[in-house]
Amino acid sequence: MNPAAMTPAAMNVAAAPAVTPVDVAIAYHERTKHGLKRYAAGPETLDWDMQPDPFRTFAGCMRTELPLLADGLETPFSALATPGAVPPAPLTLGAVATLLELSMGLSAWKELGPDRWAVRCNPSSGNLHPTEAYVLAVHVPALANGLYHYVSRDHALELRCLSADAGADAPAGLWIGLSSIQWREAWKYGERAFRYCQLDTGHALAAFRYAAAALGWRVRLVEDLDSAGLAALLGLDRAADFAGAEREEPELLLAVDVAPGEGVTVPLPTLLAEGWVGAANVLDRHPMYRWPVIDEVARATVRRGASVARAPMVLPTYPPRRSDATGRVVEIIRGRRSAQRFDAKYHMPQATFWSLLDALLLRPQAVPFDVWDVPPSLHPVLFVHKVEGVDTGVYALPRAPEMEAPLRAALRDDFEWTKPEGCPAHLPLYRLARTDSRGVIRTLSCHQAIAGDSCFSVGFIAAFGTALEEGAWRYRQLFWEAGLLGQVLYLEATAAGLGGTGIGCYFDDDLHRLLGLEGRVFQSMYHFTVGRPMTDARIVSSPAYPDRTA
Ligand SMILES: Cc1cc2nc3c(=O)[nH]c(=O)nc-3n(C[C@H](O)[C@H](O)[C@H](O)COP(=O)(O)O)c2cc1C
Repeated sequence: MNPAAMTPAAMNVAAAPAVTPVDVAIAYHERTKHGLKRYAAGPETLDWDMQPDPFRTFAGCMRTELPLLADGLETPFSALATPGAVPPAPLTLGAVATLLELSMGLSAWKELGPDRWAVRCNPSSGNLHPTEAYVLAVHVPALANGLYHYVSRDHALELRCLSADAGADAPAGLWIGLSSIQWREAWKYGERAFRYCQLDTGHALAAFRYAAAALGWRVRLVEDLDSAGLAALLGLDRAADFAGAEREEPELLLAVDVAPGEGVTVPLPTLLAEGWVGAANVLDRHPMYRWPVIDEVARATVRRGASVARAPMVLPTYPPRRSDATGRVVEIIRGRRSAQRFDAKYHMPQATFWSLLDALLLRPQAVPFDVWDVPPSLHPVLFVHKVEGVDTGVYALPRAPEMEAPLRAALRDDFEWTKPEGCPAHLPLYRLARTDSRGVIRTLSCHQAIAGDSCFSVGFIAAFGTALEEGAWRYRQLFWEAGLLGQVLYLEATAAGLGGTGIGCYFDDDLHRLLGLEGRVFQSMYHFTVGRPMTDARIVSSPAYPDRTA
């Protein structure tokens, strides 16, 4: 039979509209919404003793134990608020080790009764840590040129592949690749896990940006590499190396600029085709469920081509940021912990509140937002509970002046949009309604008390429709931006002597309805809560690397 005779056109019937990658991303987003009446699909039972191994290793690789030097890093946290204030550290193995220690390294071991678990400098939904880090090194002293996998448990690098000789005169180069082991999150959270992997990627991206800033370095997202190219570069497409083991999803590549301002662009090294070593460990021998929709959305949202050409960003001129933080970066990064309970009576000083919000604004070279040149797509809606001299209520902080009008049009038309008293003139903060929202935001945050007992909770509302018009891969980047914002609040809150917690569990559309948002022009991607944490004295803390000396 002539195949053409069977086409819908030949049969005179309407062709079913093709399902585009954007359709797949939207369908995934819709079906993984939690709601008052229904949670997204997840496992019905969990056997905690069967939790996947939190640490990936590759058997057979040569290992380099990294020195533990972060303790000696004097950079004050306040210096990160001023571009160029930290002189660049020389590129040494010790500096690379510090970059990794302060981003993906362990910060402590915790024990409660029979349970013992590691916590890391980067946070992770459910402490499941799906994000893996790779290092590509060219002419880094004491490291052979090549690709390495970072083992956070041991603070060590595993050499996965040597690269072709770069030539003695070639400039030094350093890149960080991030991937996600989606099963680690899916094991606990089922279908919504892809979102959490992306949020964790955003937190890890920010963690690298802060650690680099502490060394006077910069990191930038490598835009002209698609997902297939990244998978090949990191060895994630090497099926035989992952035989029987959980695969890793390529997320992003960061170029580390160790001499900011000098404008040196280093070409990516070529890895030796025959030089690969290592077999990935199996993390979960008995997976009980499968969530195919995660693979579908992952496939749909890969980066397929070069980045979108955009007009250069025009940023508003805000006054320079000032930080009153007194601690060193290393203390704040390691001291960051997710609060599990808040002091419900505590009121945050007004100046701290303004300063936390100020840190969310995009300024030229602002850490961590200078990892890319993407205009802000996420805009906080705040539920203010206890800030001295600030009315309890719902507030909006449009992070781009041009977003104020669309947000006004989309949010409830009885919102007031008044500037709160005492608010710094440059801060685009508007009160939408005076109300006690503690109960409602607690309910909408999957009934978690941390959302209502804090000083404020926040929902990061994305210009979802506009972002997805640029391509389905932007779905991932919206979560990454949310992770950047969350990491700013984690570290700034810690620096102010307070604490925060990421909230991935919330009732999407119930929140949208509360705010008057209809359709999919705007969607909430992530929530966060900040207050004075109450520590659980029963939990015993011990050093991250007890058997290692610097
Ligand atoms: C994307 C993301 C979502 C999270 N969602 C929640 C949440 O809904 N509720 C909660 O209590 N903690 C949440 N957390 C906090 C994690 O449980 C916490 O990061 C993890 O246990 C590790 O602890 P640490 O942050 O102190 O290192 C979330 C963290 C991240 C990064």
